[in-house]
This record gives sequence, C-alpha cells and structure tokens, in this order.
Amino acid sequence: MHKPLTRQNRFDAGRQTTGMLELGVCYYPEQWPREKWDEDARRMVDLGLAWVRIGEFAWSHIEPQSGTFQWEWMDEAIEVLGCAGLKVILGTPTAAPPKWLVDRYPDILAVDARGVVRKFGARRHYCFSSRRYRVEAARITEAMVRRYGENPFVHAWQTDNEYGDHDTIHSYSDEAKHGFREWLAARYGTIEEMNRAWGTQFWSMHYNGFDAVDLPNNLVEEPTPTHLVDYFRFSSDQVKSFNKAQVDIIRRHSPGRPVTHNFMNQNTDFDHYTVGEDIDIASWDVYPLGGLINGRLSAEDKARYLRVGDPDQTAFNHDLYRAVGRGRVWVMEQQPGPVNWAAHNQSPADGMVRLWTWLAYAHGVDMVSYFRWRQAPFAQEQFHAGLLLPNSEVDQGYLEVAQVAEEMMCLPEGEMREKAEVAILLDYESRFATRALPQGQGYIASAIALDWYSAVARLGVDVDFIGQHSDLSGYRLVLAPDLVIPDASFVARLKASGAKALFGPRSGSKTRDMHIPADLPPGPLADLIDFRVTRVESLPEYHSEPVLYGNTSHPVTGWRELIRTSETVLATFEGEHRQGMPAIIGNERTRYVGTLPRGEFLSKLMGDTLGWADIKSLPDLGDLRLARRGNLHFAFNYGNASALVPASATAEFLVGGRELAPVGVAIWTEKP
Ligand code: GAL
Repeated sequence: MHKPLTRQNRFDAGRQTTGMLELGVCYYPEQWPREKWDEDARRMVDLGLAWVRIGEFAWSHIEPQSGTFQWEWMDEAIEVLGCAGLKVILGTPTAAPPKWLVDRYPDILAVDARGVVRKFGARRHYCFSSRRYRVEAARITEAMVRRYGENPFVHAWQTDNEYGDHDTIHSYSDEAKHGFREWLAARYGTIEEMNRAWGTQFWSMHYNGFDAVDLPNNLVEEPTPTHLVDYFRFSSDQVKSFNKAQVDIIRRHSPGRPVTHNFMNQNTDFDHYTVGEDIDIASWDVYPLGGLINGRLSAEDKARYLRVGDPDQTAFNHDLYRAVGRGRVWVMEQQPGPVNWAAHNQSPADGMVRLWTWLAYAHGVDMVSYFRWRQAPFAQEQFHAGLLLPNSEVDQGYLEVAQVAEEMMCLPEGEMREKAEVAILLDYESRFATRALPQGQGYIASAIALDWYSAVARLGVDVDFIGQHSDLSGYRLVLAPDLVIPDASFVARLKASGAKALFGPRSGSKTRDMHIPADLPPGPLADLIDFRVTRVESLPEYHSEPVLYGNTSHPVTGWRELIRTSETVLATFEGEHRQGMPAIIGNERTRYVGTLPRGEFLSKLMGDTLGWADIKSLPDLGDLRLARRGNLHFAFNYGNASALVPASATAEFLVGGRELAPVGVAIWTEKP
C-alpha cells in the first residue's frame, strides 16, 4: 500500500532545523468522514503546510474496548497524509482516557480541592498519581509507538496534551495522598525533620509519622506554606515522571524522532524546565486573545488591544519556551480566529494570524501549526474557528496562512535566533512560594514578570529566559523580578559571571523550607548587595505612595518593603509614612527594588538599568515591537495608527516597508 516516499516527507533522523519557518495544522481524521481525508491532505499541502498533528484525543477510536485495537483508520490516515507530502506529529492519546477504562478503574479520576471526583465527559479526567493510570498510559503509548515508531511518515511525537489545562495538575485523591507521603519521606528522611521544616510547633500541627500527613485541602484555615509548597513540588514531580515514562517508551521504539509536549500560556503549576529536560523540542499553544481577556492589562488597555492581544504576552512565552526547549521551540496550536473558552471570545483583527506567525518565527520558533484545520460543527468547540469553515470553505485564517507561505519564499535560509544580552529569570519554585504565601492581592508574580519583560521589549531589546540552573555566560544583565528562593550556587555563579543584576521585591525572602532566612531577607543575595528587609507591607490598589527616582515622583502601589542598607540609595519613598526610606538601592553590580514600579516608572527604571549594563536600547516604541533572528530584523505594529520602523536608510526590506500599517509586519536586513 505504501506509495514511494518523496524526499520531503520521508523521515530522516539526521535532519536538523534549517532555520526556515515551517507550517502545520492540527487535524482530527476521526472526526471527519473518510471521503474527506484525501482532499483535506491535498489542500493542506497546496496551502504550504509541511506538518500535521493527529491522534492526541483518539484513544477510544484506537481501542474502543479493552484490548480490542482498531488501528486501520489511523494506519490509513497517516498513509494519506504522508503520501500527500505531510510530516506527521503523532500525539499519545493519554489526555482523554476512554469511558470503559474509567468505568473499570474509577480511581483514575482526579479529585478537586473540595474533595469532589472530577467525572468523565470532557477530557484530562485523570490523576497524575493514579498508579493504575500510569500502567494504562504506558500500555496505550507502547502499543501506539510499537505500531508507528518506525513509520516513515511519522516524524515527531507529542506526549499527552497541555499538562495543566483545566486546572488538572493538582489532585486530592487518596493515591495522591499516599504518593505525597512517600515523597515527603524521601525528601525529609525523618518525620522530625519534616516537622522542623513545616514549623509544626505552631498551632499544634505536629505529626508523629509520614502516614499521618494529609493533603493541604479542605482545611479550616490556610496550611503552613511549607506544606503547600511541598505539595506543589510533589505535584510538579508527578508531571515530570508521568511525561518521562512516555518519552522513554517513545525513545525505545521510535529512535531519532524528536519528542515534544505542547505547554500552555502562563502556566506555572509545575516546573516546566524539568519536564523540558526530557523532551527535544518545547512547543506551546498560542491563544493571544483569550490570554488578553484573562491577563494583566487594565480594562482600558484590554479594550485598546481587544483584537490584537497583549503586545508582549505572546512574545514572552515564545522566549520562555525557547529556554524550556533548550533552544528549540515550536507552536503546536496557533489561534486561527475566535476561540470558545475565554470569558469573551472576540475575533482577531484581519492580519493577526499572519502577524502571530511571523512573531513566532522572529522569536526563534521553527514551526507554527494552526489549531485546527476545520471548525467542528459538533461538540464543545463549535464556536472555535479553524482554517476552514465547517462546510470546508476557506476562512480568514487560511488566507493569512497562504500569505505567510508566499512570504516565506522571500527569506533566506539558516537565520537563527542569537543569544540575547538580557536574561529574565523565571523560577517555578518561587512561583509556588508566592502562591502559597501571597500576602496581598496586589502581588501577582506572573503579571509582574510580564510587566518587566514588556518594559524591556518597549525599548527594542531582545530577551532570553533563564532558570537558576541555566548557563549565565554571555549575559550582561540578569533581571530577576521574583526570585523568592535563590539557591546559593546560583548566587555564586551569578557573582562569577560578570553580569549585572536587578532584583525585584521579595527576592531572597524565603529559604527552601519557606522560612524567613536566618539573618533576614535577602538571604544568600546579601552576598551580592548589602541590605536587610525588616518589614514588608502589601497595599490596596486605591492607595498609592510617591517614590522619588531621579527628579521625578512616581506613584507606586501593591507592595512596599522597609530596607536597611549601606549601599547607595537610588530612589526613596516620599509619602507621609516613614518618609525618605530606600525604595531602590544598588552597588556596581547589583540593584534591588523594594516596591512594584509600573508604567512610566518601570519604563524609566528599565531604560536606566539597560544603560547601566551597557546595553543599547531605543526610545519607547509605543505599540511597535521589534525582534531579531540572525540577520533578519522584524517589526510588528499592535497599534491603530501607522508607525515608522527604526530601520537604517540602507535597510533592505524583504516583507513590508518602512511605514507599517496597523497589524503590519516588516522584515528587513541591515548592511553589516
Ligand atoms: C487547547 C487544546 C486544544 C483545543 C484548544 C482550543 O487548549 O490543546 O485541544 O481545545 O485549546 O482553543
């Protein structure tokens, strides 16, 4: 039955990325009549697509009853797509266990924080701690990989689908409880060591053994933060081991094919770096308009960016997942039109699907795959656009993809994203820490990090993300908006690296045990800069305090620290309360901000910080954003007026021109 393989679609284990953008689409052959497949595949290729992802929700079609496998349709689908010239990404189907399996083993199901079982009828209805589910997930993965591991049309694998979607990392099942106890025993060795770390002498919380410990849900008041952070760490480790088990099976039976997982926008429920260690390419799912609606911006800004999205949130995640994938990042699902799942689901401005695609490429993404090929006329996502309408007519997204496919031809091969001079530190444990001990509603770590990123992006400077484990060589500046739990080895490496560093409030405020450091915050950061934080306060948004920075007074709200220091004071609180106390301090290498600058203040602070670290920046770009990939320069216009791109007089434009209309994209090269 195999037709001859074309050069383009035959699996070649030696193939590395060429630096060219490739396009793809998510396709569900099991949702459409067989007669449509050939035409769909042909139209995908005609559109310029090279990749197609299938299978990630297909379990009940593959194994409709226990042990009865129905592979023929999938064999044929892969054959049809492959023979048309497409490279298949096959998803393991574990995000949607079938009903018969759940009926047989109800303890597969996760339990929510109220103790209620999350039932069958949608997806992601499993508990990461269910040992039975791990056996079943390995069984179906192995069956699938044995069948398709060497299939010439299968070029890559995706494990599961969106770990964390629908709030599914944390389960409060009996098995999670037992798993947690074992995890605690392994972490602490003795129960007294755990008692010490958790501070159980407080409120009579002492435990006599690990088997007396419960999960931190349904308590009368909040648990000790160490209990909670340990539970978050445990849950994160469960995701890593669940994913790793699948990766090991794939590596055994499908050698050389890259493995990816599709992560989500702004999810910090588990440590993405540690899951990233086990895969070859990080991918993520890009839904900027839902991201805007759920995101950090004011209602006024949300209205302004309603159809284009937050100008920095998507770029932030491209840069983050480039780090999670250790340089290799894909977009597995790109929004092609309105979606169905946010509080409001507006249509993108015409041209945004194209803009988002080029934005991804500019930030180092090598493959952009759209979700989904054809809008489904049935089930949960009927309102979710595809590239095609339910009747197979082309929709707006299709036209924009066609435009990208044409524009791709104008670009040279081999342009790769280079290392940036600025690194932003995102530390997942620190996120667990502020979630466990928020100390005020105004402190939202994800929004603060995005604000910092945005302030740098508005000055036209490229950014990389790092974790505490990352290699720091080559960075001139490290920005750490919320490093609550620094480890001593990171601090030592930062010190040795020569990079300058700016730390945000709460940095160094907790030990790994979630205690206040013995000699007060900032714990080990005191090795870089001499100060102590003797008090913190969180402030409601209806109260602001002036901070004098340079000659300008800026209002701040949300967070304020009382700092004692021998270092230079760069800004002071000037309100009635404790007037003149330091707000920003610094020495030659390290600076610390004891509050939450936003807007103009943050912009000024970042501009000064870049200058201090000797990094070239531009005047505020407003609604324009820039990025570089090798010799290619990109500009994106998120505003509602035309803007001039900051290209030199001799720049050579490959796409667009010097004057950029709203929703416009320009790509150019500069003479060396
Ligand atoms: C993603 C998910 C897809 C689809 C999509 C709709 O979160 O991975 O399967 O549901 O959202 O926007």
